[in-house]
Amino acid sequence: MTDTSAAIVIRPSEEKDVEAMLAIYRSHIQRGVEPGAYHEEDTLQSDDLKRRRKNMKSKRLPHLAAELNGALVGYAYAVPFRKRPAYRFVAKHSIYVHSDYLRAGVGRVLLPGLVDSCAAAGFRQMIGYIDAANEASLRLHLACGFREVGRLPSIGYKFGKWTDSVMVQRSLGLGDQTPPDVWMVPGA
Ligand SMILES: CC(C)(COP(=O)(O)OP(=O)(O)OC[C@H]1O[C@@H](n2cnc3c(N)ncnc32)[C@H](O)[C@@H]1OP(=O)(O)O)[C@@H](O)C(=O)NCCC(=O)NCCS
Repeated sequence: MTDTSAAIVIRPSEEKDVEAMLAIYRSHIQRGVEPGAYHEEDTLQSDDLKRRRKNMKSKRLPHLAAELNGALVGYAYAVPFRKRPAYRFVAKHSIYVHSDYLRAGVGRVLLPGLVDSCAAAGFRQMIGYIDAANEASLRLHLACGFREVGRLPSIGYKFGKWTDSVMVQRSLGLGDQTPPDVWMVPGA
């Protein structure tokens, strides 16, 4: 697909985006890429997504939408890596691009947008888990400054097969060079 990155607008998601975000999520469930694909039916409903979105926003966790010519073509968000306070400067993220707009440069704009938003919110590290067979996501993450830090063998089961997960990580802002800004409390 043609590179559309110059025309893509990244903005905080809004409640009116929820149906479009669900459609994107479900399209990937059907393609079998998303780990949720091992469920026979997708149980994520719009109320769940609305609740999750609000919950994240109240905790100052970025939840972003990518728009192209007025259409929602992708979304990405961060959640706390772990609940325990020592890990409060680490975000774990997800990214989804509409199946009709794959390989058009949306991910290359959206993922750095999420990285910048997480850094601005005071997070110092960002972590993602990627199915080892998900070449597109692995390459996108490596292109956006993430590196592979671990591999979790045989932890997923979908379509009759065990799957590995690759853990990727990148530092944000000053990373571990300085203590965190205590006045910024991500997830608080
Ligand atoms: C992974 C995903 C977000 C990539 O988004 P995208 O908008 O298609 O990616 P881009 O067009 O910006 O491509 C960025 C880079 O990623 C890599 N890439 C993207 N699609 C690829 C593919 N099908 N095969 C190989 N590499 C691919 C390339 O390195 C590409 O750069 P290049 O085009 O200059 O070679 C998208 O495929 C997606 O939503 N997949 C389903 C959901 C998912 O897997 N999310 C991630 C869960 S961890």
